[in-house]
This record gives sequence, C-alpha cells and structure tokens, in this order.
Amino acid sequence: MRLDGSDAAAVERAAELLAAGELVAFPTETVYGLGARADDDAAVAKIFRAKGRPADHPLIVHGADPASLLRFAAEVPPVARRLIDACWPGPLTLILPRTEGLAAAAAGGQRSIGLRCPSHPVARALLAAAQRRGVPGVAAPSANRYGRVSPTLAAHVVDEFGASLAVLDGGACVVGIESSIVDCSRGHPVLLRPGLLTRSQIEAAAGEPLREADARAPRAPGTLASHYAPNATLRLMPTRILAEALQLLGPQPLALAVYSRAALPRAAAGVRYRRMPAKPEQVAHELFAVLRELDAQGVQLIWVEEPPAGPEWDGVRDRLVRAAAR
Ligand code: TXA
Ligand code: MG
Repeated sequence: MRLDGSDAAAVERAAELLAAGELVAFPTETVYGLGARADDDAAVAKIFRAKGRPADHPLIVHGADPASLLRFAAEVPPVARRLIDACWPGPLTLILPRTEGLAAAAAGGQRSIGLRCPSHPVARALLAAAQRRGVPGVAAPSANRYGRVSPTLAAHVVDEFGASLAVLDGGACVVGIESSIVDCSRGHPVLLRPGLLTRSQIEAAAGEPLREADARAPRAPGTLASHYAPNATLRLMPTRILAEALQLLGPQPLALAVYSRAALPRAAAGVRYRRMPAKPEQVAHELFAVLRELDAQGVQLIWVEEPPAGPEWDGVRDRLVRAAAR
C-alpha cells in the first residue's frame, strides 16, 4: 500500500499502523527503512522475518528528537553528546550502551543500541506523529531483503516486499547510501561504517580521532565482507585494466554494463555504458538505483571503475567493495 508522504493524513495513517505494531516502510535522507515500534519485541520480530535477517543482527532505532531517543541509552558519553549536537538530525548513527529492559529485540541481544535522528522531513513527521501515539522510537533497518542493495525509492521497497506492505513515499533519498555508524559504547569512538560524512568531518565534530573497527567490534551486517550486492556480478577495476578488458572483448553481444567516470572507448556490441558522476555525493545518491536498474535490464556483469583514493570517496568505495565481494 503506497502512502503519500506529502499528505499529512497519510503520515498519520502510517503512524497509526506503527503504533498498532505493524510494519511501515518510510523514507530517510539516506535510504528507505523498514520500521516497527522499537519498544514492541513482537512488532520488531516482523522486521527480522520480512527481511530474512538473523535475529542477532541489531537494528537502528530512529526518533524525532534526541531527547526522546536517548531514553534508549543508559549513558551518553561526552563524545556522543558532541556528535549529536553537531550531526543530528542527519545521516549519523551512534552506538551507545543500552537501557536495560528496553528494545531488546531491536538491539539483537546486544547490550548497546544504535540510535539515529534522521533529517528527512517525511521521516521526522512520521516519527513525531508516532511519538504522539506513544511510540518512543522506531526500529528500522534498510528496507531490503538481507544482504541486498538498499532501496532509495519507494518503488524499490515494493520490488523487495510486494505491494501489501505500507510504504510512505517521500521520493528519492538525497544521500543514497546508509548512515555513518560510530560506536561510542566502548570508550574510544570507532567508525563501524563509513557514509556520507567523511572521517575528518566526524572527527572534527567529535573533537577526537576515530579508531578503526577491531576484532572486538560488534557484529554489523553492513560491515560483512559481502553485502549490498546486486544480482549481477560486480567487479571493481582500475581505469587502465577496465579499458584493456573492454578492448579484449570479442564481437559477441554480452550482458555487460560499465559504470565509469572515464569516457572509455566503445567496445563489443551490447555493452551498456553508464557514466559515473564526478562528485562522491552524486555517485552515492544514484549508486543503488543504478545497480537496481542494471539488474532489471538483465545485465549479468557490471564492471565498475575504481573511485579515486580521497577520503570523501570512503562511503561509496565501501559499498562497491562489498558489492564486488561475492
Ligand atoms: O542510513 C541508515 O542507517 C539506514 C536508515 C534506514 O536509517 N538504516 C540502515 O540499517 O542502514 P541496517 O540495519 O541496514 O544497518 C544498520 C547497521 C547494521 O550494520 C547493524 O549491525 C548496525 O547498524 N548496528 C545497529 N545496532 C548496533 C549495535 N548495537 N552495535 C553494533 N552495530 C549495530
Ligand atoms: Mg541494510
């Protein structure tokens, strides 16, 4: 069921469904989320069933404002406080020690909890309407089946779960890749997943350096080697290798797509060329939609030019490396 995110009555309807323990997919500035009230373990169980996600993989709890959301945290270290002040609402998730007895299913049994205040106006309206109905927070992973490409359009969510799921349509997600995740539950802040915000932007806001995730870092499916994969096999290559490989192709038509910043010489018939935009935020914005489009066109192989080395490309590079690791 599609609900129009710009229609206040539709937002109220979606909030009612959440309050009643039903699932609602909704837009955020990063990707669409599949939401259920975080304080209802039975409602949260529906998310894990729908996604086919293992029950011990924790979800992010979303809230309209920091004050309401921080109920889920047993403790807010000063570094987390600084990150909240600088980055919320926005595409940053914080892992904090969890308030005992709250949102155990959403936390996947962890003693910590992922919290995020999204900036998307439709998400904010929905979360505020749900809060007025007594919903303290909405647990929501990306609205895709386990291991698959995250949705950045309401139509992608329908492709994943069918038309019976309530989907609040807020148009195309501006950021396009998932939030940055910083673990503030274990002393020093650790970057678990890069996103749009660069490491140096987060460090400037945190007032201290971020550590790399180590072996003791909590489990996060978004940090598994293979994730975010399209149906087609994706390969990441330096520009020169990509150009050479194209030259080596025979004349037979191939279900091959090339996604590159460089303008490459046209090779065998049937190869689809997609130009990668120049700026990392433009690539992030379109990346998942491009992968889904190529899948829908029946492409079997996607050759992607490696993005440049700069830290502003970390989020995009991270998603491409994982998509290629299959
Ligand atoms: O941008 C986003 O973050 C989107 C939108 C919908 O907000 N959500 C999203 O959720 O990407 P999901 O479930 O696909 O990815 C959430 C990541 C997972 O890798 C999960 O393991 C990690 O957050 N996570 C959540 N709670 C955690 C915790 N307590 N400790 C460690 N990792 C946690
Ligand atoms: Mg996900």
